Amino acid sequence: MSSRAFAHTPATRSDDVGALDLAAAVAHEFGGRSRGLAQAYQELSDLYRTGGATPDDARLTRDHVHAYLAARMPATLAVARTVLGAVAERRPAWEPATLLDLGAGPGTAMWAAAEMFPSLAAVTCVEQAGAMIDAGRQLARRCASPAVRGAEWHRGSVADPPEARADLVVASFVLGELPASALDDAVDRWWDATLGELVVVEPGTPAGFARLRGVRDRLIGAGATITAPCPSDAACPMSGDDWCHFAARVARSGVHRAVKGGELGFEDEKFAYVSASRGEPAHAAARVLRAPQVRSGHIRFTVCEAPEMREAVVARSHKDAFRWARKAHWGDEVPPGVLRRP
Ligand SMILES: C[S@@+](CC[C@H](N)C(=O)[O-])C[C@H]1O[C@@H](n2cnc3c(N)ncnc32)[C@H](O)[C@@H]1O
Repeated sequence: MSSRAFAHTPATRSDDVGALDLAAAVAHEFGGRSRGLAQAYQELSDLYRTGGATPDDARLTRDHVHAYLAARMPATLAVARTVLGAVAERRPAWEPATLLDLGAGPGTAMWAAAEMFPSLAAVTCVEQAGAMIDAGRQLARRCASPAVRGAEWHRGSVADPPEARADLVVASFVLGELPASALDDAVDRWWDATLGELVVVEPGTPAGFARLRGVRDRLIGAGATITAPCPSDAACPMSGDDWCHFAARVARSGVHRAVKGGELGFEDEKFAYVSASRGEPAHAAARVLRAPQVRSGHIRFTVCEAPEMREAVVARSHKDAFRWARKAHWGDEVPPGVLRRP
């Protein structure tokens, strides 16, 4: 199986990462300690929930960083793998050599990118918190990818990244930590730094989506084409209180459960994203926008199919389409010709 083959499943499993096993690196470097982390996790999640940012070094303790590694990073890793998998699926021949990971935290997106794009040769991480950089450097030593092991870490602001330009630029769960007044300038700089794809990921909330819709409009205005998730560069058809978002399934380790509480062996991390390209348009025919509804004899889908969102039904009698529909997930692209118009 190619390193990309499993990336096309939106409910990505976080336990099948093989040689680039970030969870194993965390377990090895930071052990399975959970005492004291539950409170640190609570402080972090209260901050995130109220729209706050990751604390700066004056307030960011080692426990906060460990709590992030134990309870947040598995989810952001699953999201990054899913998103970059969707980009790779749209651009199968694309082989980025350079990555700029903005607001890198402990380097989550870099690990996912090295897994999805084995062509990566050089990585630059930009991060404001020294404690996150320390953790990221420590973890990177255990990565099979030379690009991750050799990553350059810049301590500074994503609002003013280093001059470096990169084939792939990723800003994962950091846009919402910037003041609203700084967003447009930051996105312009990120786009200037982008040679190929700029991937911006946010929480799958109405506020996260609203920010991304603004980013999408701005980048299309600057000449970008949207590689994923959108099936066109036309105006987004989402309306009213609705918001475009997806979910990545995350296996929860014992430490994860101890830190976050709860009994379930998995959780679904909701996210929204946009990947904007300088390349030729490479849109999917359509994309599944909600969990498919399996009924007797047919499966119902809500899809985005330019220029609209619409409902679609695939009947068992439509054999080829039904074969696809039975395995389709929320977030999957829809192959051309599968959805018949009524
Ligand atoms: C929620 S974490 C996401 C980390 C990582 N990208 C991931 O997906 O797991 C946000 C990170 O962005 C960093 N950050 C926030 N604002 C920043 C800024 N203006 N410049 C650089 N880093 C920033 C925080 O310190 C934190 O490590």
